[in-house]
Amino acid sequence: MIKKLFVATVFIALIASCTQDRMPELISLELELRDLVQKSSPTNDGDFYILPSETDLEAIPQDKANNPLTPEKVELGKFLFFETGFATDALYPSGIGTYSCGSCHIPEAGFKSGKFQGIADGGEAFGLNGEDRRRNTEYQEHELDVQAARPLSLLNVAYVSNTTWNGRFGREGTNVGTEDFWVQRDGTFRNALGFEALETQNFEGLKTHRIRITKELIDEYGYTDLFDASFPELDDDQKYSNFGGSLAISAYLRTVLSNRAPFQDWLKGDGDALSPDEKKGAILFFGKANCYNCHFNQNLGSEEFHALGVKDLDMRTFYKTTDSEIDDRNLGRGAFTGQEWDKFKFKVPQLYNQSDSPFYFHGSSIKDLDDLIEYKNIAETESERVPQNKLSEKFVPLNLTEEEKSQLLEFLEKSLRDPDLIRYKPTSLGSGNCFPNNDPVSASDLGCE
Ligand code: HEC
Ligand code: HEC
Repeated sequence: MIKKLFVATVFIALIASCTQDRMPELISLELELRDLVQKSSPTNDGDFYILPSETDLEAIPQDKANNPLTPEKVELGKFLFFETGFATDALYPSGIGTYSCGSCHIPEAGFKSGKFQGIADGGEAFGLNGEDRRRNTEYQEHELDVQAARPLSLLNVAYVSNTTWNGRFGREGTNVGTEDFWVQRDGTFRNALGFEALETQNFEGLKTHRIRITKELIDEYGYTDLFDASFPELDDDQKYSNFGGSLAISAYLRTVLSNRAPFQDWLKGDGDALSPDEKKGAILFFGKANCYNCHFNQNLGSEEFHALGVKDLDMRTFYKTTDSEIDDRNLGRGAFTGQEWDKFKFKVPQLYNQSDSPFYFHGSSIKDLDDLIEYKNIAETESERVPQNKLSEKFVPLNLTEEEKSQLLEFLEKSLRDPDLIRYKPTSLGSGNCFPNNDPVSASDLGCE
C-alpha cells in the first residue's frame, strides 16, 4: 500500500522537476535504483532498508521479554549515557566526574570518537567534536581508559546482534555454537545471562568504563522517579544500580537511528531526496561496486566477519593498552573463537554518518573516504600481519573509474548522513554537569563555564 503510493509520488515529483529532454534519463535512473535496491535486499523488498522513527518504539528491534522499550526507560537512558556525575570509579581524584559513555561515542562525531582512539577516564579536552581529546598528564599511559581499537559507531545498534568488532557479545546468529568461548576473566559466562548482545555488553561496559550508579547519587541528581517509572518490576538493589542503569542505556541506544538521512527519505518516497550523482553512487553500491555483498543489513552493516587486511591501531601512534607484543583485539574474530580461520576477520560495520569523524576501520588506518573507496577498489592488504591470501573471498578489485568513485563518495557522504543526530542528546543533566566530558579543559571547550 505504502509502496504503491511511493512510486506514484516519485513519478509526480520527477515530472515536476525535470526539464523535457533530461526527463527520460532521470526517470530511468530512479527506476533502475528502485529495482536494484529491491533485488539486493535480503527480503526482496526495498522497504527492508527503512529505519523506524525513534518514537515508534513498537517498530524498533528489542528484547521484549527482558528489556522492552518504554518512553521512560529511553528518556532515562538518554541522561545516563551522557551523565558525567556517575563517573566515580576514576583512578585519580582529578578524573572523578569527568567522563561518560559519550566521551567515546559522540553524537556530533556520528556516535564514534572524535579521534583515532577514544579516551574516557584519564583524558582531558574536547575541541569541537572530540578531536582534541588527549591524556591528562596526571595519568600514566597504561592507566587511561582506552582500547586498542577505534570505538564502533552506536548509530543503528538496534540492528546489531553480535556486538564489538569481533562479535563476542550475543548468543544468537553467528554466535550459536560459540558457547565454549563465553567465559570472561572473572569466571562468569557473559552470554549466558539470557539477554541480547547489546544488553549483555552494556552490563560490562559501565564497569569497564569506571562508572558506578548508586542510589545516593540517583537521589541527589533527581533521577529516582525515572528509575521507578522505568523498572516497576525490579527490586531496589537491582533497580538503583549499574544493572537498571545499563538496561535503560540499552533501551536508549536502540532508538538512536539515522532515519533522517536523505537515503531514508528517498526510500520512503521522496524521489528528489537524492541528486542524480547520489543515485548513480547508490546504483554502484548495490551493483558494480559490490558493497551490498557485505553491507546488506538494515544499518548497511552485517553480522558477517571479513578480513580486509587493514592496519591495526598499534601500527600508528596511539595510547598503548597492554604490555604484550600484540593486542588480541588485532586478531579480530580469531581472538574470540580461537580458530585459525577467524584470524584478522572483523565485523562488517554500519555505514551511516561515517564522515562525521574521519577515522575509518578498526585501526583508524584511513582518514579520508576517498582513500577508503580506493582501498576497496584495489582490494590489497596494507598490513604486514595479514597476507594477501588471507583476505576475504568477497573482497575483490572493482575497476571503478574516477567518475564512479566520486559518485560512490556522494552516496556515502551525503545520502547516508542524518544531519540532526544532536536530537539524541539531552539538553542538560540531572547533576547539572557538563557533558559528554567534564574536565576543566573540556568544560571550557564545550562552553559550560
Ligand atoms: C574509552 C572509550 C569508550 C567508552 C568510554 C565507551 N565505549 Fe563503547 N566502544 C568503545 C570501543 C573501542 C568499542 C569497540 C570495542 C571492540 O570492538 O573491541 C566500543 C563498542 C561499543 C558497543 C558495540 C557496538 C557494536 O556495533 O558492536 C556498544 C554497544 C558500546 N560500545 C556501548 C557503550 C556504552 C553503553 C558505554 C558507556 C557505559 C560505552 N560504550 C563507553 C569505546 C568506548
Ligand atoms: C568483503 C566484505 C566487504 C565488502 C565487499 C565491502 N566492505 Fe566495507 N567493510 C567491511 C569490513 C569487514 C569492514 C571493517 C574492516 C575493519 O575495520 O577491519 C568495512 C568497513 C567499511 C567502512 C568503514 C566503517 C567504519 O566504521 O570504520 C566503510 C565506510 C565501508 N566499509 C564502505 C564500503 C563500501 C563503500 C564498499 C563498496 C565499495 C564496501 N565497504 C565493500 C566489509 C566489506
